[in-house]
Amino acid sequence: MLDSSHSVRATALPTTADVPNLDDLPLSVWPTGQQPPASQRRGRYTPGSTAHPAKMLPAVAAHAIAHYTRPGDLVLDPMCGIGTTLVEALHLGRRAIGVEYEPHWVDVACANLDLADSLGASFAGDARVLHGDARQLATLLSPEAIGRAALVVTSPPYGPSTHGQVSVIPGGGVQKYHHLYGNLLDRGNLANIGHHRLLAGFERILAALADVLRPGAHVVITVRPWREHAELIDLPSQILACGTRAGLVPVERCVALLGRVAGDGLIARGSFFQRDFIRKQRDAGLPLHLIAHEDVLVFCVLPAGSNVATQAAGHAADAAGETRAA
Ligand SMILES: C[S@@+](CC[C@H](N)C(=O)[O-])C[C@H]1O[C@@H](n2cnc3c(N)ncnc32)[C@H](O)[C@@H]1O
Repeated sequence: MLDSSHSVRATALPTTADVPNLDDLPLSVWPTGQQPPASQRRGRYTPGSTAHPAKMLPAVAAHAIAHYTRPGDLVLDPMCGIGTTLVEALHLGRRAIGVEYEPHWVDVACANLDLADSLGASFAGDARVLHGDARQLATLLSPEAIGRAALVVTSPPYGPSTHGQVSVIPGGGVQKYHHLYGNLLDRGNLANIGHHRLLAGFERILAALADVLRPGAHVVITVRPWREHAELIDLPSQILACGTRAGLVPVERCVALLGRVAGDGLIARGSFFQRDFIRKQRDAGLPLHLIAHEDVLVFCVLPAGSNVATQAAGHAADAAGETRAA
């Protein structure tokens, strides 16, 4: 059992002063929703993976890994869930390491690494899932892993409201399941500690990443805005501010599509709950739309002692060139 008594600093929400000017960041749109989630996972993930409440779309992880790393590079996910980042990294010929707080998801992620190994993914035999609290990242990683990872692809948990699956019970209505993270009283899981503390905890993880990654490494965070009683919680901007305060340099803000691009349009794929929520809000007169993308925030770890402003500006310009060329 892990120590669940970490005192989590309650913090003020990041202010706009912490958020860089978004207009200065290059933007690209990732066509990551061409296949439905189940097709993307078929054959590469064990059946036990389905129950995770907030899995990353494999194509999002794969796009980031292909774009920001080279074969043989080490990819890290400090909150790896079922290990999507790790599995996709291995299938792309990269090395992989993950940290996960919930023992059950550690086991599922390990089973997924075994499956990747049996499918012949290179480096799968060396891949590891560490059980622990990512806020203590530097103490969890082995000395050989420090300073080696070239990329982080991760996403924070953000409560049960948008997660989970449903079953319809004849005569018994709709039941939600697989929407919670572990023991709700366990404060070590950032999903269970409220919005302000989630941000504070995630900022600590980002600060820890700045210390353990290779200089020049990228940190890719996928995150969605969500609504609480119709009020928009702009989590992407709050996470952008957390990253900046943690010493990471924002270099891109992208859009990973969850829906399929077809002809001139986008065919959205919303969960039962998202559709139900939108329908009810519209009936109540609020003209909401189904969210059809994840925000992707991309940060860079600068070498110690570098001129942050100059390098960040240069990097953003490079990234803009790449985006245009793509
Ligand atoms: C949004 S999910 C990540 C899902 C993952 N990308 C995947 O595809 O399976 C966030 C994960 O962070 C884990 N987590 C929460 N608090 C943590 C902590 N303090 N340290 C490490 N992992 C944590 C949760 O158990 C959850 O599995």
